[in-house]
Amino acid sequence: MARTDDDSWDLASSVGSTATMIAAGRAMATRDPRGLIDDPLAAPLVRAVGVDFFTRLMDGELDVAAVEDGAAERMQAMIDGVALRTRFFDDYCLAAAETGVRQVVILAAGLDARAYRLPWAASTTVFEVDQPEVIEFKTRTLADLGAEPTAERRTVAIDLREDWPAALRAAGFDPAAPTSWLAEGLLIYLPPDAQDRLFDNITALSAPGSTIATEYVPGLKDFDPEKARASSERFREHGFDIDMADLIFTGERHHGAEYLSDHGWRMNQLSRAELFARHEVPLPDLQDTDDPLGEIIYLDGTLAAAR
Ligand SMILES: C[S@@+](CC[C@H](N)C(=O)[O-])C[C@H]1O[C@@H](n2cnc3c(N)ncnc32)[C@H](O)[C@@H]1O
Repeated sequence: MARTDDDSWDLASSVGSTATMIAAGRAMATRDPRGLIDDPLAAPLVRAVGVDFFTRLMDGELDVAAVEDGAAERMQAMIDGVALRTRFFDDYCLAAAETGVRQVVILAAGLDARAYRLPWAASTTVFEVDQPEVIEFKTRTLADLGAEPTAERRTVAIDLREDWPAALRAAGFDPAAPTSWLAEGLLIYLPPDAQDRLFDNITALSAPGSTIATEYVPGLKDFDPEKARASSERFREHGFDIDMADLIFTGERHHGAEYLSDHGWRMNQLSRAELFARHEVPLPDLQDTDDPLGEIIYLDGTLAAAR
């Protein structure tokens, strides 16, 4: 179903299901003997969501290779991609903590369990922002599992197209303290103007020394919905009806690094190839798959002392 200005979802539907899909990737990457990441909460969270497709995918019960040539390689590429993306943002969080930042905001937190699994410095507060049903489900499920946050965790249940800065402040956010912002896997689900507003709000709420990490997907600007529909067919063959082309906002948008640089942030960029090389993981040859969302540029930056 196409997006609307005020659509909402849980973790089994629409944009929410992408959070479950990424968590399934983290669960599979956690089992990988190379030990690139360790997210023991990913599997129980995905299981609790209860979408049969993701549970079977995670448990290795989907015979993807039987559907199509090259599917097994693409699956491994997806697992490696999620693992290294997770490492990028984990390493970013830990590096920001080393600089003394004790306030963290995870925008579009989905099933991200960093507030429970990273070794945060004492007196760190982690705010998680996402849609109400997503926040409520994760909080309840992790409590039922007996998981304890490793920082003070505060939740902000709101749509990021609404006045989330007010909700964040109401949850105790201190704009005078430096903040580490995380927006992982979010921007493609926001219209271009909402992305600009998000960065404007982040900048306005950021004390000097604040940090940010996110990504940029260059292929969005010439994304072909028909091609994406064909690849979503693979999911449908396995009984999960999702159409990525309906969920994302395509067309021209600002490059996140350029926009943030223009607003006082000192930005770094890391290509997918550089990220794979950093962790000595062979870059999969996905040329044949022509996935427009496959190339991702990872961004991190620091707000300059004076603006
Ligand atoms: C691909 S998932 C990423 C989740 C998490 N950051 C991760 O990497 O595992 C996208 C997330 O963005 C959230 N999201 C997208 N648009 C949103 C909006 N307008 N308001 C609140 N959350 C939003 C979804 O609910 C979902 O949790």
